[in-house]
Amino acid sequence: MSSSENIKACNDMKIINTELESISKVVENCDKCELAKTRIKTVFGKGSHNPLIVFVGEAPGAEEDKTGMPFVGRGGRLLDTWLSKYNLNLDMVYIMNAIKCRPPKNRDPLPSEKEACRFYFEKQIELLKPKVLCGLGRHGFGNLVSLDSKLAYGKMRGIVHHYKNIPVIATYHPAYILRSSKEQEKVFEDFQLLLETLKNNQ
Ligand code: URA
Ligand code: SF4
Repeated sequence: MSSSENIKACNDMKIINTELESISKVVENCDKCELAKTRIKTVFGKGSHNPLIVFVGEAPGAEEDKTGMPFVGRGGRLLDTWLSKYNLNLDMVYIMNAIKCRPPKNRDPLPSEKEACRFYFEKQIELLKPKVLCGLGRHGFGNLVSLDSKLAYGKMRGIVHHYKNIPVIATYHPAYILRSSKEQEKVFEDFQLLLETLKNNQ
C-alpha cells in the first residue's frame, strides 16, 4: 500500500470506529421494543472493526446481560475453543447477535423484536464490511438469510448463501452443541467451508 493509500485507509477506519461507537451509544438508550424494560445492559458486539468474519448469534443471555458483552457465558467459552482451533481471534473477527437485549428467561426473540432491532443490525454489518458472515443457529442465520420455516435448519449447512453480496455460512449455535456434543464434528466441517469461502473472497 502506498503512503497516501495508507492515510486514506486510516481515515476510513477512524470514521468506521466513530460511527460504530455512536450507534452503540444510541443502542444503550434504545427503547424501541419491550426488551428495554427487562434488560440490564445492551450487548452491541465485540472484536475487530475491520473483520474478516462476523459471527451472528441470537440474543444476549444472563451473563451477557450482566456484562454487556456477547458470548461470555458457557456457550461463549465453547465458541472461543472453535475460534482458537482455527487460529482466529478478536483481532480478525467480530461477534454480535440478531438483537441487542436479553429476552426474559432466554425465550426466543419475537419477530417484532428482531424487526425493531434490524436497523442497528444492518448498519453494524454495513460498517464492519466482513468478507464472510457466519450464522450461529437458526435465529442468527435467519436474520441474514430468509429461512423457510418448514425446512430443517441443518439443511442450510454446506451451502454458501448471501446477505447483500457477502457470503454467509450456517453452523450450529454453541448452546445447541453443549446439549448435543456429538454434533460438534459438523461445526468443524462448517468452519472448513467458512475458511475456504474466506480464502476465495479475499
Ligand atoms: N447466545 C447468543 O446467541 N448470544 C450471546 O451473546 C450469548 C448466548
Ligand atoms: Fe432496542 Fe434492540 Fe434492545 Fe429492542 S432489542 S430495545 S430494538 S436495542
